Amino acid sequence: MELPWAEPYKVKMVEEIFMSSREQREKWIEEEGNNLFNLASDRVFIDLLTDSGTGAMSDRQWAEIMMGDESYAGSQSYLKLREVVRHTLGFPYFLPTHQGRAAENVLFSILVKENNVVPGNSHFDTTKGHIEFRKAHAIDCTIEEAFDINNLHPFKGNIDLEKLEEVYKAHPKENIPFCMITVTCNSSGGQPVSMQNIKDVKALSDRYGIPVFFDAARFAENAYFIKEREDEYQDKTIKEIVKEMFSYGDGFTMSAKKDGLVNIGGLLGMRNEQLYRACGNMGIIYEGFITYGGLAGRDLAALAQGLLESTELPYLKARIDQVEYLGNKLIAYGIPIQKPIGGHAVFVDALNFLTHVPREEYPAQTLAIELYKESGVRGVEIGTLLADRDPETRKDRFPKLELLRLAIPRRTYSYKHLDYVAAALKNIFDRREEIRSGLEIVWESEILRHFTILLKKK
Ligand code: F0G
Repeated sequence: MELPWAEPYKVKMVEEIFMSSREQREKWIEEEGNNLFNLASDRVFIDLLTDSGTGAMSDRQWAEIMMGDESYAGSQSYLKLREVVRHTLGFPYFLPTHQGRAAENVLFSILVKENNVVPGNSHFDTTKGHIEFRKAHAIDCTIEEAFDINNLHPFKGNIDLEKLEEVYKAHPKENIPFCMITVTCNSSGGQPVSMQNIKDVKALSDRYGIPVFFDAARFAENAYFIKEREDEYQDKTIKEIVKEMFSYGDGFTMSAKKDGLVNIGGLLGMRNEQLYRACGNMGIIYEGFITYGGLAGRDLAALAQGLLESTELPYLKARIDQVEYLGNKLIAYGIPIQKPIGGHAVFVDALNFLTHVPREEYPAQTLAIELYKESGVRGVEIGTLLADRDPETRKDRFPKLELLRLAIPRRTYSYKHLDYVAAALKNIFDRREEIRSGLEIVWESEILRHFTILLKKK
């Protein structure tokens, strides 16, 4: 018999999680205004709110924590991280930052000016936020296939080269500070970008003299999909693929809370020394000295080790297999999800799940609340609440897709936990016809309302 595949790690430490009763959960979520962000974590059994900073570190990372060098300047932990950024990612210059959006803030403070345009595949919320905060515009040039959840295109994070060239033609070069490629593309469902597309974007951008930056939060997962789905790369190692991917970039921002395998941290990398010096000054103002950037020495050391681990194939196989396992279970139950299954999360299509809940009553949030009440599982709405109101009309903006994201933390939950999540969703799916009303807003903030919104049952 061929031996089955199994995880390349075993568990050394466990953390208790708490099961509650349906009555308790109904009371708690009502008290918290039907907002899952308001819940205390001990009221959640399985937490799929995010895969950001929620993963388990390895024994080697914990060993690095113990050996962290807390020197203000020139810490040994910084030097370790520099070695990894140079050799594994291939960038000569970098700044640590406290998380991904901090790297965006530092870089954009230097490069993004009022009325600039920043094209890319679907920008992540904070990236878009940092662009718009500077009165510049984020232009989504993702391929159309990405918006059809049943289209099985293997690289739905790809940039449409025609759309990108239109942007390059419509604006003078001075108004386009860079093109941003998000790998994998979180906003389109954890979908990867192919190496061919990265190369093409680089070649096109070179012709117009526009730099290319990566939003590299999930760069290792992207490399895994390239190896799996792009023929020329099946015999390459993940580290070789990562090095090649990054070779087409002038720089990157990274939330290290994802593929850095740490609970906090970010990076900003670049090739240009002048840009590094300018960003360094900005980093000092916002983050801290250039060799620690808002992080403790131990955080830098754990990140260096995390980057080495996340770029190994057995780790990535175990990681992506969990996401696919949950996705495939849901598909087997007939539950509509975005396909192909993404790298870090399963996205449930709430419009085709709760067909009787009107869009004005927030079906994805309604489904997220139903799932919590049913099982104590916490997901997150990626839909109308997240999309905020139109700044001018103050009307709800209805995005093309109304999704419930179930993000899987790295090396954290077991396959039994995923069975539990799938069973809970199936129970709701079986009684979906009975769910005919959703939620209405009691209070909301002007922007980023989903974090603090208060809702009640319609
Ligand atoms: N870019 C991408 C693609 C992200 O997914 C995130 C965070 C960031 C940048 C910002 O990084 O949180 O370290 O400041 N995504 C988290 C999520 C919050 O749940 O998807 P950060």
